[in-house]
Amino acid sequence: MARSCRLRPASLADLLELAELERGAFSDPWTEAQLRDALGWPGAIAIVAENTSGLTGYVLGRVVVDQAEILSLATTAAHRRRGIGRALLTALLAAMVERGAHSVWLEVRISNQAARAMYQSVGFVAAGRRRDYYRQPLEDALILRRELTAERVNAT
Ligand SMILES: CC(C)(COP(=O)(O)OP(=O)(O)OC[C@H]1O[C@@H](n2cnc3c(N)ncnc32)[C@H](O)[C@@H]1OP(=O)(O)O)[C@@H](O)C(=O)NCCC(=O)NCCS
Repeated sequence: MARSCRLRPASLADLLELAELERGAFSDPWTEAQLRDALGWPGAIAIVAENTSGLTGYVLGRVVVDQAEILSLATTAAHRRRGIGRALLTALLAAMVERGAHSVWLEVRISNQAARAMYQSVGFVAAGRRRDYYRQPLEDALILRRELTAERVNAT
């Protein structure tokens, strides 16, 4: 990851920038209100990447008992392909292990080759498909899954 970027837990003070990041990254972005709710969910974990100009990426997930889910992950268009997405993902997986998660899953648009390549590169495998899951545009979701053990997360 670019040396000028650092990771830290997200806080409610980040909401405006998180909503902006969402709008820049997704055709059906989470709103500020949805993000505020999600940050308060039991088991929620949110991590941001930032440099001196502001946020460059974020990831949001949650742990329920021993199962974890990744809810959103995005980096700003100007900062892609610099290792920030993978750094956020790895930090999230480590935090999920710390909270007792044994496995993690997520949904991704079938056409999202960049995200699919990133998840594959850290050991996620296809576990199913949800027909017409996404809107704007309508598209199937691929379900990806990965077992979580401290050794494997540290090795990514
Ligand atoms: C997906 C996303 C988060 C990746 O973030 P990033 O900071 O660019 O990712 P990284 O630089 O850490 O790349 C990690 C790996 O992902 C893969 N990858 C990332 N972008 C890629 C692209 N455009 N094409 C192919 N593979 C890509 C590569 O395997 C890459 O490793 P490498 O650079 O060593 O080859 C970013 O493209 C994004 O925000 N996209 C829009 C939002 C989104 O789709 N989020 C995921 C929702 S499930």
